[in-house]
Amino acid sequence: MMNVLTRRARSEGYRARSIYKLDEINKKYNLIKKKVRILDLGSYPGSWLQYCFEREANVIGVDIREVKTLGNVQVLRLDIMNKDELKIIYDLGKFDLVLSDLSPKLTGIKDVDMQKSSLLDKKALEIACNVLRKKGSFICKVFQNSNEVEFERLVKNKFEQVKLFKPQASKKGSSEFYIIARDYKN
Ligand SMILES: C[S@@+](CC[C@H](N)C(=O)[O-])C[C@H]1O[C@@H](n2cnc3c(N)ncnc32)[C@H](O)[C@@H]1O
Repeated sequence: MMNVLTRRARSEGYRARSIYKLDEINKKYNLIKKKVRILDLGSYPGSWLQYCFEREANVIGVDIREVKTLGNVQVLRLDIMNKDELKIIYDLGKFDLVLSDLSPKLTGIKDVDMQKSSLLDKKALEIACNVLRKKGSFICKVFQNSNEVEFERLVKNKFEQVKLFKPQASKKGSSEFYIIARDYKN
């Protein structure tokens, strides 16, 4: 049966229910606004891109899957785990905010999925540290049991302010939460 938020997203013209998670985060932290330069890692199908676009932020999306175009938004189809493809991101210049809603293709084997998720989180942090301007911010989805305590420690080494946020719009029973890291130390 279709979930209430999925139905709401459809009726409001959004590509995924994830938009409501980002909306909750932004209502609290107010990081997505006009002219802010944003890199959105793991953007397919594109609801976070829609959110940023509507707020007139300058957003660039990245996903291994093809994302349907949206206004003048640039979307790069590449694998962030591929060193050569990563160079394309590093040629884009500096950003104010890096978003990561990355999730691996699930195998159903919990340990394997958590391991893959942890690798994606670490790669997202590495990318953020390479492209953020000083005082920039990083919002990253994390799953409990994916070495999240160690990951939180790594993020705290790089940012002055780090908070954890659990959106109401996350699926019931989901172990996901978001790390909101501000003031990149550079
Ligand atoms: C939960 S979805 C993102 C949803 C998106 N925030 C939205 O609102 O529409 C996670 C995305 O991470 C992408 N992804 C996973 N591994 C990736 C990789 N190595 N490189 C690029 N994208 C990846 C997947 O293709 C998937 O589209």
